[in-house]
Amino acid sequence: MNAPTSPRRGAHASVRHDSAAGHVSGRAVYLDDMPLPTNALHAALVLSPHAHARIRAIDLAAALEVPGVVAAVTAGDIPGVNDIGPILKGEPALAEGVAEYAGHPVAAIAAETLEAAREAAALVAVDWEELPAVLSVEEALAAESFVAPPQVMARGNPEAALGLAPLRLSGEVRCGGQDHFYLEGQIAIAVPGEDRDMQVYSSTQHPTEVQHGVAHLLGLPFAQVTVEVRRMGGAFGGKESQATIIAGIAALLAWKAGRPVKLRLPRDDDMLATGKRHPFLIRYDVGLDADGRLLALDLVLAGDAGNIADLTPAVVARALCHSDNCYWIPDIRVTGLACKTNKVSNTAFRGFGGPQGMFAIEAILDDVARHLKLPLDTVRARNFYGVEANNVTPYGMTVEDNIIERVTGELARSVDLPGWRAAVDAFNASSPVVKKGLATVPVKFGISFNLPTLNQAGALVHVYTDGSVHLNHGGTEMGQGLFVKVAQVVAEAFKIDVDRVRVSATSTAKVPNTSATAASSGSDLNGMAALAAAETIRGRMVEVMAERFGVPAGEVTFDDGRVFARNESLSFGELAQLCWSRRVSLSSTGFYRTPKIHWDAATCTGRPFFYFTYGAAAAEVAIDTLTGELRVLRAELLQDCGNSLNPAIDRGQIEGAFVQGMGWLTSEELWWDDRGRLGTHGPSTYKIPGSRDVPPVFNTRLLADAPNREATVMRSKAVGEPPLMLALSVWLAIRDAVASVGPPGAKVELDAPATPTRVLAAVERVRGGG
Ligand code: MTE
Ligand code: MOS
Repeated sequence: MNAPTSPRRGAHASVRHDSAAGHVSGRAVYLDDMPLPTNALHAALVLSPHAHARIRAIDLAAALEVPGVVAAVTAGDIPGVNDIGPILKGEPALAEGVAEYAGHPVAAIAAETLEAAREAAALVAVDWEELPAVLSVEEALAAESFVAPPQVMARGNPEAALGLAPLRLSGEVRCGGQDHFYLEGQIAIAVPGEDRDMQVYSSTQHPTEVQHGVAHLLGLPFAQVTVEVRRMGGAFGGKESQATIIAGIAALLAWKAGRPVKLRLPRDDDMLATGKRHPFLIRYDVGLDADGRLLALDLVLAGDAGNIADLTPAVVARALCHSDNCYWIPDIRVTGLACKTNKVSNTAFRGFGGPQGMFAIEAILDDVARHLKLPLDTVRARNFYGVEANNVTPYGMTVEDNIIERVTGELARSVDLPGWRAAVDAFNASSPVVKKGLATVPVKFGISFNLPTLNQAGALVHVYTDGSVHLNHGGTEMGQGLFVKVAQVVAEAFKIDVDRVRVSATSTAKVPNTSATAASSGSDLNGMAALAAAETIRGRMVEVMAERFGVPAGEVTFDDGRVFARNESLSFGELAQLCWSRRVSLSSTGFYRTPKIHWDAATCTGRPFFYFTYGAAAAEVAIDTLTGELRVLRAELLQDCGNSLNPAIDRGQIEGAFVQGMGWLTSEELWWDDRGRLGTHGPSTYKIPGSRDVPPVFNTRLLADAPNREATVMRSKAVGEPPLMLALSVWLAIRDAVASVGPPGAKVELDAPATPTRVLAAVERVRGGG
């Protein structure tokens, strides 16, 4: 008899993150921990001090004289093409002829020491000719300055319906940008090899794009550039396209010096030089009936793209596709604008435009509810998508998996929302200065990249003759737990313990032509690709087992680390050994492409998403009406994860996303001076939530018994981004607290982030009658 073993851990188990111990002990190796080759150099960037200026000349003489300096590069040194644009062509890694934002990299230095590189960078003399700069969305709109054409999503006849609507409201509201503030800043190490090969270690969500960027800059075929990433210390979208700039410059310096180069940005340079979440200016005109049913909407979402397109067209598309959130709006037009300003180019950030689109519609519904003196939840319930009718989005996709009423209902019941509301009202009646607010938010988030082509993934699985498994796929690990989830899927396919599966660094040499790990679809895509690879190998193993014991293949089963054929069994490793001895391959690639999706970018119609995930949250805040200070006192979250691949990991994602969303909507303010220079480029001035900002009462639940109705990997749902939008409940709760000092029906004007300054101003406006 074997000694009893602990239960096998596969899919759906709360297995801890494969690097959990490494993260907390400091043993997990990040790029900055990697031992460098002895001839490696360190690099520093030269950034533009001007928001918009012509580069008349760059004088490197003084910099090159600093002892230890080995190489310097400007755009003129690039042997290939100065282009790393992820969507549009012609977006430079180093400013060429003109700098378009304060922080724009114009040159880079490589030296024996980091100190020498930084000293030399400070001595680079640029002859600037300052040019007029566009520094706000308003200025860009007035100048019709855009990085890409407008995108219009429309249905019906919004003009006519607005004209006929019994009630009509209009307004304007803004949400701010957000720095990713990953713990590990942007970093890359480039190591030149034989015959101009270039090996790049990059903290990137998108190794393939780094490969392409480096190849373009150096004029190399893709096959001569290999990009590897084991893990990132956080990315949040900030290392989707931005990492290519850093890796590209490191590779340029390595090529020029003929030596390995490490480029690690100091936090200030990181915040100045690389893109952030897009701020949006939102203008709306909405038509309603007397009960608050939305009849028509004309909405303009103007995003601040910064100086180049980068990913902005896709971010705007996702903003459009989330400006409905959970609501049926019969006649609608949403115009998405990608405003070109002389600021750092904004980029992917958790939610990718979705949060801004939902912010817009939730602000509109809050205005509507206050105007009609109705509870916000009542107005929402009257507008939810139906199940049989009124269930088609403005972009033409039928909401087939609508569970929003179930999710909001379960949350409301589990937290006794009416009792909670009564307690908040009672507090406010007896508290003249500190006022509480309470609000909920429902969330529906579409899963898949809007661009169907990107929804593909590859994997590579090897089974060794001792039964241990080597797993590789195109997804990258940024702390979100992708590696452990995909390992669990492979363990499940072979019915072995997840500890038998060894995950390995993502490399363009192992799995080619990958998409960014983004759009929350990492486990959906790579999980399926890895499953396909594992199933191919399992199929071969079944045949060997069947032949060995003379049973039909259908009678071979895998369970608990063993393989059974009637009364016979082998351990998984014994069968692997048997396969090898019979010359059967134990290695396979796997590939997956998401079915059912299509998207027409010209008309903004299609089925861009494989499915939706749903969630709901309720938050209670307190504000000090004399200072504008605020605290989030309690948050209750309910998130749909389908059949969660790993409830412990998902819980961490939900909590983390919510707190990050709170930061976006409350304390994280990016401040530029009147010459377009970012003032908030370090933790002393840029305030991300700290541990004491986490609500003291903070409960997270995963929706039970909710398998994905679409055939996703083990019926799970994506989780990385959607819960960030649950934090809209906090912003709405602040508006609720502000409203409590004014007459019923008063309009609350509060942009995000709701800093104390803005909260105080909103309180004063409401006191003055709204
Ligand atoms: N969680 C951690 N810990 N660190 C991160 O950088 N990025 C988020 C989310 N969760 C992130 C994270 C973003 S923006 C995305 S798109 C997803 O993880 C990407 O990973 P996934 O597709 O595997 O969920
Ligand atoms: Mo996430 S913003 O899609 O990297």
